[in-house]
Amino acid sequence: MNDTQENAAIRLADYRAPAWHVDSIEMDFDLDIESSELSTRLLLRRDPAQDSPLRLNGENLELLSIALDGKTLDADAYRFVDDLLEIDNARDGSVLETRVRLRPAANTALEGLYLSGSHDAGFLLTQCEAEGFRHITFFPDRPDVQSRYTVTLRANRERFPVLLAGGNPDGVGDLDNGWHWVRFVDPHPKPSYLFALVAGRLDKITRDYVTADGRKVVLNIWAESDAIDRCHYAMDALERSMRWDERAFGRNYDLDVFHIVATHDFNMGAMENKGLNIFNAKYLLADQDSSTDDEYRHVEAVVAHEYFHNWSGNRVTCRDWFQLSLKEGLTVFREQSFSADMNSAPLKRIEDVSLLRRAQFPEDAGPIAHPVRPAQYSEINNFYTATVYEKGAELVRMLSGHLGKQGFRRGMDLYFERNDGRAATLEDFLGSLGEANQVDLMPYLAWYAQAGTPRLKAEGRHDAESRTYTLRLIQHGSNGHEEKPALPIPVKVGLFDRDGEMLDLHMDGQTSHGEKETVVLLDQAQASFVFRDVVEAPVPSLLRGFSAPVILEYEYAPAELALLLAHDPDGFNQWEAGQQLACRAYENLRDGVADDALIAWTDALALLFEATEIDQALLADLLTPPGEIELAEREASVDPQRIHALHRQLQLRLAERIGARALAEKYEMLHKCSTIKLDATSQAQRRLKRRTLELLGLVDSAETQRRAVTQYREAPGMTDRLAALNVLLRSDAPQAGSAVAQYRARYADNALALDKWFALQAQVPGDATLDRVKMLEQDASFTLRNPNRVQSLFGAFVRGNPSGFHRADGAGYRLLADRLLGLDALNPQVAARLATAFNGWQRLEPCRRELAHAVISELAGNDALSRNLSEIIVSMMQG
Ligand code: TRP
Ligand code: ZN
Repeated sequence: MNDTQENAAIRLADYRAPAWHVDSIEMDFDLDIESSELSTRLLLRRDPAQDSPLRLNGENLELLSIALDGKTLDADAYRFVDDLLEIDNARDGSVLETRVRLRPAANTALEGLYLSGSHDAGFLLTQCEAEGFRHITFFPDRPDVQSRYTVTLRANRERFPVLLAGGNPDGVGDLDNGWHWVRFVDPHPKPSYLFALVAGRLDKITRDYVTADGRKVVLNIWAESDAIDRCHYAMDALERSMRWDERAFGRNYDLDVFHIVATHDFNMGAMENKGLNIFNAKYLLADQDSSTDDEYRHVEAVVAHEYFHNWSGNRVTCRDWFQLSLKEGLTVFREQSFSADMNSAPLKRIEDVSLLRRAQFPEDAGPIAHPVRPAQYSEINNFYTATVYEKGAELVRMLSGHLGKQGFRRGMDLYFERNDGRAATLEDFLGSLGEANQVDLMPYLAWYAQAGTPRLKAEGRHDAESRTYTLRLIQHGSNGHEEKPALPIPVKVGLFDRDGEMLDLHMDGQTSHGEKETVVLLDQAQASFVFRDVVEAPVPSLLRGFSAPVILEYEYAPAELALLLAHDPDGFNQWEAGQQLACRAYENLRDGVADDALIAWTDALALLFEATEIDQALLADLLTPPGEIELAEREASVDPQRIHALHRQLQLRLAERIGARALAEKYEMLHKCSTIKLDATSQAQRRLKRRTLELLGLVDSAETQRRAVTQYREAPGMTDRLAALNVLLRSDAPQAGSAVAQYRARYADNALALDKWFALQAQVPGDATLDRVKMLEQDASFTLRNPNRVQSLFGAFVRGNPSGFHRADGAGYRLLADRLLGLDALNPQVAARLATAFNGWQRLEPCRRELAHAVISELAGNDALSRNLSEIIVSMMQG
């Protein structure tokens, strides 16, 4: 992720259009668990302007036969070296036929064709993005090669009663020996990464749907029999997503069937294969007994995300993987807009900005930092990052803010129309958005090209005599003195008077006078903006709605932030003021200086805690200061255990200020109306109840433990149950052990619920957790072969538990390095992702830095690492 990266680097600047296209592809599979065979027939088209020989990608393929234009090739007419098959004498219009053998059961990397579950009960499926298709057959495996697919699946009927591939069904039939066949034809040319098949014993739920433009579609969700009853919520979410895309973007579905399949064995969240989405069960299954409110919302969001890809990704795809954010950033933004419409818009914004700060800012500040459109990579799977997804979505949000709602829709219409069926670039995207609105958006390309979180410094000056308020904005890139081109930064501004009322804004040269908020665009290194008719020095509310992904520097007095926290009518900005104030309060504690911010923060929240009209979910978020990872980002020398202690103290001061009595009363009040319902009010009550119980635990431990035991026992659903268990575990309650055992037994057959059991324990702060993690590895249900399980134990420990992972003796680092080696041999993608937990090691305090450095160097010296893991480790050493 660095300029000095390996020779293996692939560069954006080296892009060449493909010399060979494949107009159509026929695939005939003979499927079985241990060994599958596949014949592929490619109809080739040559670019007359190029004369390179035909070269096809292929990895881990056993070539059984090969023929060109009907003639079996002699051994000297082709070469298969370094995962490339080079074939002589191919012509425009040639037909290439290959037959290969695949070994699905032995495929632990979960890329290409693999087995989910056990040999006897499991099913077969594929994962092709980004470059998995080359693990299935020989093909020019790049997204700018788009083909018509005809796929025939043959398998034993009893073992594989369900056979699915993308596209429309095109016939079924019986074969000898108890086998059967099923055929699919996809009328929409697509890149190979969107190919998918599924084969096995699966149950389904189904629903009829008619698109706004009148197409009858059958929606099917498939899952193993023990899970099919947990698919109804996802089906509802799918229907909502389809309707929303019709209304919000005028996008209709375009095949006769749409399938979603759930699997427990999946490297990421979900995959948008054309007509056959495949989901990690974690983001599809939901039921009251085993899913939390947050998980319900995640299911809705991921179902929407994958569905929205049908246009932003599939109909319009990416020219090359450098353009990944063209589909991912845009689709995340579309999902965010959908979720904001379905639920509470401010809460959704709070959630997304928190995620950005927790996951993307640290990425952008450390050794694996890269632009939203990277300039080079070694292993593309390492670039499915928070930067490409989340920062990418923020860039689309800025563009949509720049154009306004209607202008953005106009631009998107033109983008879809002009690029339908094409493999497009970010320039195509900005070009369409701009052209439809007669503005030049190309300056925003600079955002896509530079890594690092920009800093935005703001200064305000009030002049009583001229009654003007001048806002001066200065931008500087994050990487010190490095020269970077100025970025267009839209800054949404509001001004408050000292009573907390918003002023009517008047600016010269602006058409809209008297609005309460306005957007000023900083498109040079610095600029000043003058507001007129401002009688007294106002309190500015800057970057409202988080209008640009920057770090804002403005020297607020604590009382000014407290005023915004008390009065801003917009929930997001209210929360943001509270977050800034909490950071200052944290610094009060850390530096042992005056308590001014701490007092302002706790006073303001104690007042809000008593307010009757406030949204209870928002209140829960207001009562939650920035997390340990965010706080660490602000430190020059990081001691995660000291940060943890201060973070706890900060919350203790808040709990003390509100008082045990008020907390207990609120808890009892919320506990009394405890329900299992999923509506917004019920969810909000549970969210606030959880937060109240946590705060109460800080000031009245024994009484809180007693309450938690009751809540655990009587919980109507998973949100309350898990919250109670968490409080018991973290307060080291005497009753924790039996609750943990009871949960383990109760959910022995529910993998997703067990994942939460592992994660909760792995996230208990402190030195003792490392030994607990080692003990949990011995649990009969633990395995390194399942990515969700790895994530729930090790991911939760190394990423979700800074004070547990960063033990002063370095034992956490050694454990991670050990497991990375074991994991890398099985599944390089998952190993590489877990390894990014070392991000930020250079800023650790000297002792921990030394220990981390030793462990990472040792890994770097190991030449048996996969390309995936090696790229991450090498970057870590270079930062
Ligand atoms: N395109 C998928 C999404 O964001 C993510 C994805 C990329 C993926 N590579 C994958 C999913 C590998 C599973 C496995 O929607
Ligand atoms: Zn996506």
